[in-house]
Amino acid sequence: MSRKKITLIGGGQIGGVLAQLIAQRQLGDVVMFDIVEDLPQGKTLDIAEASRIGGFDTKVEGTNDYRDIAGSDLVIITAGLPRKPGMSRDDLLSTNSKIMKSVAEGVKANAPDTIVIIISNPLDAMVTLFKKVTGFPHNRVIGQAGVLDSSRFSSFIAWELGVSVKDINTMVLGGHGDTMVPIVRYANVNGIPVMELLERKYGDAAKAKEVMDAMVTRTKKAGGEVLALLKTGSAYYSPASSAITMAEAIIYDEKRLLPVCAYLQGEFGVDGYYVGVPAVLGATGVEKVVEFALDEEEQSALDNSINAVKTLVADMERLGF
Ligand code: APR
Repeated sequence: MSRKKITLIGGGQIGGVLAQLIAQRQLGDVVMFDIVEDLPQGKTLDIAEASRIGGFDTKVEGTNDYRDIAGSDLVIITAGLPRKPGMSRDDLLSTNSKIMKSVAEGVKANAPDTIVIIISNPLDAMVTLFKKVTGFPHNRVIGQAGVLDSSRFSSFIAWELGVSVKDINTMVLGGHGDTMVPIVRYANVNGIPVMELLERKYGDAAKAKEVMDAMVTRTKKAGGEVLALLKTGSAYYSPASSAITMAEAIIYDEKRLLPVCAYLQGEFGVDGYYVGVPAVLGATGVEKVVEFALDEEEQSALDNSINAVKTLVADMERLGF
């Protein structure tokens, strides 16, 4: 079996971690594309020179030429400016839309059969724009947000309960912004509801709710928390790791049920928008969007988040994209 070809569009902070993780896991041969001359060549050379130590035979190469992405099985896009402190994801809209349009044209012309995972922000708008420019089928255009948001939520729960994060299961739905919807009702530790464990820990339902509310709020603002500390850019280790989880699900046809930004056609009461929902990821990309019953409060939070995505997409369209 020949190795998969994985292209990274954007060789910045996230792109660099992605290249290293893909190489270390021998997930496929890596081509890193960036518009900055020499940057992807330098980063990939540095990673490739660790191959003896890391024990990987996969190729890791950099380029400034879109022709080198031909034959990609998977393209992961991080091209775009990251947020700076004080800047909302939406502030990035105009600049990153321009970048995403050019990236979409490059991918469409040179790797028309690839599956694509988008990480660039504002995520829901960037995925929508990429799909619009390329006309690729919905199953092959996927956004990364929910895996990261859920991982953050799970981490906070594990730290609070003093148990391994490996046993925590959570799901965060909706847009990748402040309106995202962590589903508290189904958050569990190997099947035991987190709320029950919090109530037992504090012996008080009101206190348990207060602690959970704080974790939900922290999850929604987690990107901003890292950004405020880093100052010069936004989170990159965790977004890269999250995209690797999705890439593995696709490359190994795992049929994992993960929260991803997927195109909805009536599911959850939404038609024609990309929103974070549970979906089965396998060899063909998004193989199925999985619906489940939301209670009134969850549905209303999701509706609110979907409205924020609609506003974002409308803003992007108003800007001419
Ligand atoms: N084509 C290809 N690459 C581009 C283009 C373009 N048109 N424009 C910019 N880039 C490259 C930059 O040269 C840079 O190397 O995209 C890279 C972005 O890297 P960083 O600035 O380090 O940003 P990073 O932290 O990797 O985040 C990238 O992901 O999470 C989101 O909000 C984040 O939108 C941002 C993106």
